[in-house]
Amino acid sequence: MSEDQSPFLKACRGEKTDYTPIWLMRQAGRYMQEYREVRERTPFMDLCANSDLAAEVTVTAVERIGADAAIIFSDILLILVPMGMDLTYGKGEGPILGNPIRSGADVDRLCEAPPEALSFVYEAIRKTRASLKPETPLIGFCGAPFTLASYMIEGGGSRNYAETKTLMYTDSGAWHALMNLVSRSLVKYVKKQIEAGAQVIQIFDSWVGCLSPEDYREFVFPHVRLLLDSISGDVPVIHFGTGTATLLDEQKKAGGDVIGLDWRVNLGETWDRLGNVSVQGNLDPCTLLGDRETLSKRAGEILRQAGGRPGHIFNLGHGVLPMTSVDNVKFLIDFVHEWKVDA
Ligand code: CP3
Repeated sequence: MSEDQSPFLKACRGEKTDYTPIWLMRQAGRYMQEYREVRERTPFMDLCANSDLAAEVTVTAVERIGADAAIIFSDILLILVPMGMDLTYGKGEGPILGNPIRSGADVDRLCEAPPEALSFVYEAIRKTRASLKPETPLIGFCGAPFTLASYMIEGGGSRNYAETKTLMYTDSGAWHALMNLVSRSLVKYVKKQIEAGAQVIQIFDSWVGCLSPEDYREFVFPHVRLLLDSISGDVPVIHFGTGTATLLDEQKKAGGDVIGLDWRVNLGETWDRLGNVSVQGNLDPCTLLGDRETLSKRAGEILRQAGGRPGHIFNLGHGVLPMTSVDNVKFLIDFVHEWKVDA
């Protein structure tokens, strides 16, 4: 089978497949023993910067669980370093940006990320592509402008995005300048990933669900549109977010060949409404923590809602949680593969 005819790439293009392709966000991560062993010896940022190790972790994960696509081992926040941000990953606390952006003057101190500053990512993509089975497609990725800006402004994760919204509402000039700078950096970064061999790109707008549709339209849409317009046509793009039930129509308008759905929406009804686009999702990651009866019941409901329509990529609604059992992940992947799509 050529890669181009793999079920995952066919589903991205909205073509019919013999079975529903599945991969999991964060499929290379702490729930996996092999990953924890590598991490015992290597700090997270060193792992990302080491293209041999990043390729190894990527390939090990996809082969261990039997997923239909690999996602390059990296992180959405790495691009912030060549833009001028101080990034560290504290033990158990998540990422920390030591010099948060709070004003127009702070934005002026940043620069567009020179794409060659992230050459270790392209190198990891090339090495991963060379060692993956030919029929397994490789996903490259980046954060979306809003999600990245929220980390830059908050200085880390956030519960209510108060600082982010304060800048957005009080200095829209600085806000749009920041979003534009991030978007321009992302365009070059993504194009380099495609050149290196990424066959699909996923845009992670993980935290955009904290916005109202009005704020999305005014403060986010133009920037996502610019990003997606600039990279569209090269390879399929998956446009992902969480908590986005009220934003999906706008997100679809902004672009992407595949729209990511989380578990808070009914996949069937939402797909009916969105219409002509592929969809990815949408199992609650917590179902992998429960018993297999519930897991197969919930997975079956999603497959039934998709109803064999071409263009469904099975995934979780968000990343695999660290306490997940690998056996449950494999059970889910087998379950999805064995499902008769025409049933
Ligand atoms: O999916 C994959 O297997 C590929 C690798 C990948 C990572 N991060 C590795 C990682 C991907 C696609 C990401 C994307 C990412 N990073 C997002 C968007 C997806 C999402 O979950 O919403 C976000 C918001 C980040 C930022 C980030 N990086 C956070 C909040 C954290 C700490 C929280 C956590 O999950 O530990 C990271 C660190 C990180 N990125 C880890 C991994 C495997 C854990 C690091 C470790 O302790 O080993």
